[in-house]
Amino acid sequence: MTRRTVILTTNPGIEDIVAEEARARLGAEVVEIRAGHGRVIVDIDESSLYLVEYMRSIHRAKLLLARDKICGSKECLSKVYEVVASSGVEKYVTPYTSFAIRAERVGMHEYSSLDIARVAGDAVIDAVRRLYGLRPPVDLDYPAVAVSVDVINDEVYVSIELGGELSWHRRGYRIYDHPAALKPTLAYAMIAMSGIVDGETLMDPMCGGGTVAIEAAQLLEHSRIICMDRSRRHIAGARLNARAAMVENRIRFIVGDATRLSSYVDQVDVVVSNPPYGIRMGSPHEVRRVYREFLREAASVVRKSIVLITTEHRVVKRTLEEHGWRIVHERRVAHGNLYPYIIVAKPR
Ligand SMILES: C[S@@+](CC[C@H](N)C(=O)[O-])C[C@H]1O[C@@H](n2cnc3c(N)ncnc32)[C@H](O)[C@@H]1O
Repeated sequence: MTRRTVILTTNPGIEDIVAEEARARLGAEVVEIRAGHGRVIVDIDESSLYLVEYMRSIHRAKLLLARDKICGSKECLSKVYEVVASSGVEKYVTPYTSFAIRAERVGMHEYSSLDIARVAGDAVIDAVRRLYGLRPPVDLDYPAVAVSVDVINDEVYVSIELGGELSWHRRGYRIYDHPAALKPTLAYAMIAMSGIVDGETLMDPMCGGGTVAIEAAQLLEHSRIICMDRSRRHIAGARLNARAAMVENRIRFIVGDATRLSSYVDQVDVVVSNPPYGIRMGSPHEVRRVYREFLREAASVVRKSIVLITTEHRVVKRTLEEHGWRIVHERRVAHGNLYPYIIVAKPR
């Protein structure tokens, strides 16, 4: 059995969820978790490589060809050439396969990502020419093979992008684009953190375009999923998205007010939700009122866990504790240009 090393990239803050999904779905051995950097390196059996495409928690996957130490001075650019030229890249790029270099640089270096791309490009061309006597075509827009060369602090990684270059968090079902949509990878992570078991009921009482509900319906075959929002327009959009994801009939859609949750449902097992962030809602007083009333209701209706992503973590924690719930986990994640908290609460 041939083992291959794969770099999985994700939203900073949910690397452990990626590692867990890779273990469960791919039988992967986790080599390294770069917490806060959105990178997880795993070893998997070559025959499981195709399964990477089914992962729900990652943005991209890259097949690692080589990894080495590198220094930050201009002279060390020659190291980029050496590592790329000896990486075996000519197995993937041939005179008949167009390629492009995608270079990324994190940390302090005397060279830019453009310098890296230029040197790495020369190294690929030379490696292919050595083997075939011909040079490969470069196509920066639509390459058949994208070769990634990332210099992260004092290390250089050479890899091949798997499954195309678009981030996998852009799910095909986003027909209706909610103005404050949650990244599906974060929705997946929150569902995983809720501890829900297939067959239990999940509700998102402020579901917007339906990301949490759709991810849940795709993940949990036997669960009842409820998607509620006070906006008729968003619920219509969520329904469209669910139809595109082919899970419309798995989800119950409600136009309703989360501050009166108990008038719509008697009991649900978990609530996973992305309520509006205060800075987008205007008056802080109004924000706190909506959160308090929603959480008072949620505390009485939810049986197992409440998982929220929010910038209003203080009011969430205080209110849930006042209603006899305990905060069992909290973490900060990157979401666009904001750093909200994911909070997991359980009844005492
Ligand atoms: C941040 S958005 C949710 C986005 C969603 N997670 C997605 O990916 O599309 C918050 C949603 O809460 C809804 N909302 C605000 N107050 C509400 C309330 N009292 N009851 C129900 N929904 C509410 C808004 O209409 C908005 O769609």
